[in-house]
Amino acid sequence: MNPIHPDDSLCYLNGEYLPLSGARIPVLDRGFIFGDGVYEVVPVYHKRAFRLEPHLDRLQRSLAQVRIDNPHTRDEWRAIIDRLVRSSTPVDLAVYVQVTRGVARRDFAFPRNVTPTVFAMASALTRPSAAQRDAGLRTISVPDARWLRCDIKSVSLLPNILAKQAARESGAYEAWFVDKDGNVTEGGSTNAWIVTKDGELVTRQLSNSILGGITRRSLVKLAADAQIKVVERPFSLEEARGAREAFLTSTTSFVTPITKIDGKPVGTGKPGAVAARLRELYYGYMGSPEPGAA
Ligand SMILES: Cc1ncc(COP(=O)(O)O)c(C=O)c1O
Repeated sequence: MNPIHPDDSLCYLNGEYLPLSGARIPVLDRGFIFGDGVYEVVPVYHKRAFRLEPHLDRLQRSLAQVRIDNPHTRDEWRAIIDRLVRSSTPVDLAVYVQVTRGVARRDFAFPRNVTPTVFAMASALTRPSAAQRDAGLRTISVPDARWLRCDIKSVSLLPNILAKQAARESGAYEAWFVDKDGNVTEGGSTNAWIVTKDGELVTRQLSNSILGGITRRSLVKLAADAQIKVVERPFSLEEARGAREAFLTSTTSFVTPITKIDGKPVGTGKPGAVAARLRELYYGYMGSPEPGAA
């Protein structure tokens, strides 16, 4: 029995719904051999997929960028996700979707007439705990050793894995990637934000250097609607260290304050008011109360 996904948890593999423990792919799948595939993570709150269309748009874009034909129509994707959600016991879920180029004789160049492998599963959504949110998280900085197309949600995630492992080994939640100019790009699986000494809310502008987070996008809009100005520009690690606030955003981490970078306190060393306000706006947008909110 797999402790993470109970045997009876249903997954989707190439047109079939089956228990996760029984799902198998051939070893020559290019996702396994080359990391030749892309993925998405769609949040589900109270059994309803949240911001599904932007997630499906991003999946479409990732697939197009790596030249894999989208194997499903929008309606088919919605139906797959819906079926997994309906068959899951937890009401708040993260639905993971992966498409690889498919199974073929090992060769770097694309095989001809290959059928993409499609896999999807729903897992209970694990978000930062109320204690983590109230105390704030720690992050470390690591050189950004990734490729130049971080805008594609590729399953090739070795630098992210190594960075997140380094974070875990030093007791931190996240690792912030720092580019060759000393600027923070993003976290291993989150977007990075600061509130500067002058009160400017800053997150790095969209480019090939970061993944365009759906949570990031929601917050840019929510902040603008609430008359909070967001400046999309690079910020250095030095600026982040001297910032008033820092926080991270993602589908599964929401808006969570960072109170230490490389062991040194950010601002007062306590979660800040801007992150709290943005989290409130985000939960309002989700239409779901924040668990354990004061
Ligand atoms: C590298 C990276 N940046 C940012 C994000 C946040 O994106 P989203 O808000 O769509 O979850 C993720 C999410 O997995 C990520 O892997």
